[in-house]
Amino acid sequence: MKGRHVTSFTLTLCILTTFLYRQVSSQGLVNTTNGTLSGIREMVGEKPVHLFLGIPYAKPPVGELRFKNPLPALNWTGVRNATEFGDTCMSASPVSPKMSEDCLTLNIYVPGDVIDSGHSNVTKAVMVWIHGGAYRSGASSEYDFRNFAVEDDVIVVTVNYRVGPFGFLSTGDVNAPGNAGLWDQIEGLKWVRDNIASFGGDPNRITIFGESAGASSVSQLAMTTATKGLFHRVISQSGAALSPWAWVHDAIDVAMTIGNLLGCNATTTDTAKLVRCLQNQDSVVLINASSQITAGRTYFGFSPVVDGDLFPRSVTELLKDTDSDVLRHFRSVDYLIGFTDSDGGVFLFKLPFNYTSGIPGDKLRDTLIPQLALQVSALHKDEIEAKMKDIYYDPSADKEATARHYCAIMVQRI
Ligand SMILES: *[C@@H]1O[C@H](CO)[C@@H](O)[C@H](O)[C@H]1NC(C)=O
Ligand SMILES: *[C@@H]1O[C@H](CO)[C@@H](O)[C@H](O)[C@H]1NC(C)=O
Ligand SMILES: *[C@@H]1O[C@H](CO)[C@@H](O)[C@H](O)[C@H]1NC(C)=O
Ligand SMILES: *[C@@H]1O[C@H](CO)[C@@H](O)[C@H](O)[C@H]1NC(C)=O
Ligand SMILES: *[C@@H]1O[C@H](CO)[C@@H](O)[C@H](O)[C@H]1NC(C)=O
Ligand SMILES: *[C@@H]1O[C@H](CO)[C@@H](O)[C@H](O)[C@H]1NC(C)=O
Ligand SMILES: *[C@@H]1O[C@H](CO)[C@@H](O)[C@H](O)[C@H]1NC(C)=O
Ligand SMILES: *[C@@H]1O[C@H](CO)[C@@H](O)[C@H](O)[C@H]1NC(C)=O
Repeated sequence: MKGRHVTSFTLTLCILTTFLYRQVSSQGLVNTTNGTLSGIREMVGEKPVHLFLGIPYAKPPVGELRFKNPLPALNWTGVRNATEFGDTCMSASPVSPKMSEDCLTLNIYVPGDVIDSGHSNVTKAVMVWIHGGAYRSGASSEYDFRNFAVEDDVIVVTVNYRVGPFGFLSTGDVNAPGNAGLWDQIEGLKWVRDNIASFGGDPNRITIFGESAGASSVSQLAMTTATKGLFHRVISQSGAALSPWAWVHDAIDVAMTIGNLLGCNATTTDTAKLVRCLQNQDSVVLINASSQITAGRTYFGFSPVVDGDLFPRSVTELLKDTDSDVLRHFRSVDYLIGFTDSDGGVFLFKLPFNYTSGIPGDKLRDTLIPQLALQVSALHKDEIEAKMKDIYYDPSADKEATARHYCAIMVQRI
């Protein structure tokens, strides 16, 4: 009896060991639908984390593909080193010197060892991060999710997408439909759906989350049927599809203005010529021209558009039609929305005085709050002012604390 137990225990151990050796690759080799990847193994404290960086999830959107929807990634041969972030997408405020149009890559942070879900019944939840940057800057490489992945035992994926004119220039027709940057995010999510199980992830437990333009992006992705089945939960941090800055309404004018700046000589009836001309521009020249467009606008010059395809109608209209496919899709996902603490700080630079060491209490009480109350409603100014002072004005707070209270008010304007 005892002997049999030992034998079967040894046998089980043997099978288990073989099983583990077969599925856990010490170099972190993973087969994907496009080829084999080699990652990096690192430690966060006592716990390992595997990183796979710079994985191409779409064909490089260069040449004739500039401004166009992304195409699926090409295969590579042999083992691809996924050990460095890919290039940052072209932007006027670069976050890295490694910047190019060939930027459609994603990164994967896997806590613990990499075990193919096909060989294990323990799968991990997946969170896909969409970075912010006003739809015109930012990069996945700005964020480090090593600790987050390990502490929360979740697989994190971060995705680059085209920004500025490359991601959001639109002529309002087939020549440059617009929303290429959002289609990039969608292409990245398709890659994740098809491949995340090989990293131990559960393709049926995917959360998309983002901050600022990342927050409005994930909200926009939840408001289109093009993303059905690609995620199940959404977290928006300081932004939503209803944020006024999340859309451009005069995209064709923006495109024409850029064309004129660059001597394209195109008319609104010849958008094919305009797009060809803009596709032939050097990418830095195009970025420079786009910075001139965006200066002086209330909102951004390059953001998503109602294109009749990804978004058949404006989100406000889509929300009114409670029986639409879009609304059914929207209601099928879990949605968490809020503000990131201190994001209201983006409004500090607009203050007409030096706020470096904080905001004096009397300035908040006597100038800033009354101005804001007036902007909300001239009719109810006094009530609003009193209520705001109740909540946000603390006579005993120092200048720094007062500045934080101001940020807490202003974050609600995002
Ligand atoms: C990847 O595929 C190759 C060839 O099909 C196979 O030999 C190898 O064991 C696979 N690697 C992993 C980590 O599954
Ligand atoms: C690369 O993988 C993606 C995602 O699964 C797939 O759609 C695409 O067809 C693959 N590319 C090729 C050339 O097979
Ligand atoms: C791409 O690679 C995958 C396997 O990694 C293979 O199944 C697929 O057929 C390849 N696609 C092309 C177009 O070669
Ligand atoms: C991958 O990286 C390793 C270590 O940095 C290096 O030895 C190897 O040559 C690289 N392989 C390729 C295909 O670049
Ligand atoms: C995984 O499968 C094994 C064998 O079927 C089973 O004993 C174990 O309870 C399962 N674990 C989980 C977490 O479902
Ligand atoms: C635009 O017109 C100017 C002046 O007629 C001409 O020099 C230039 O080559 C034209 N550019 C294009 C792209 O057609
Ligand atoms: C783009 O603008 C920068 C800053 O204004 C300038 O230094 C650079 O020469 C410009 N590059 C091109 C190609 O126009
Ligand atoms: C703003 O105040 C800080 C210190 O409070 C000072 O270092 C800085 O020079 C001031 N800036 C201007 C533009 O006056």
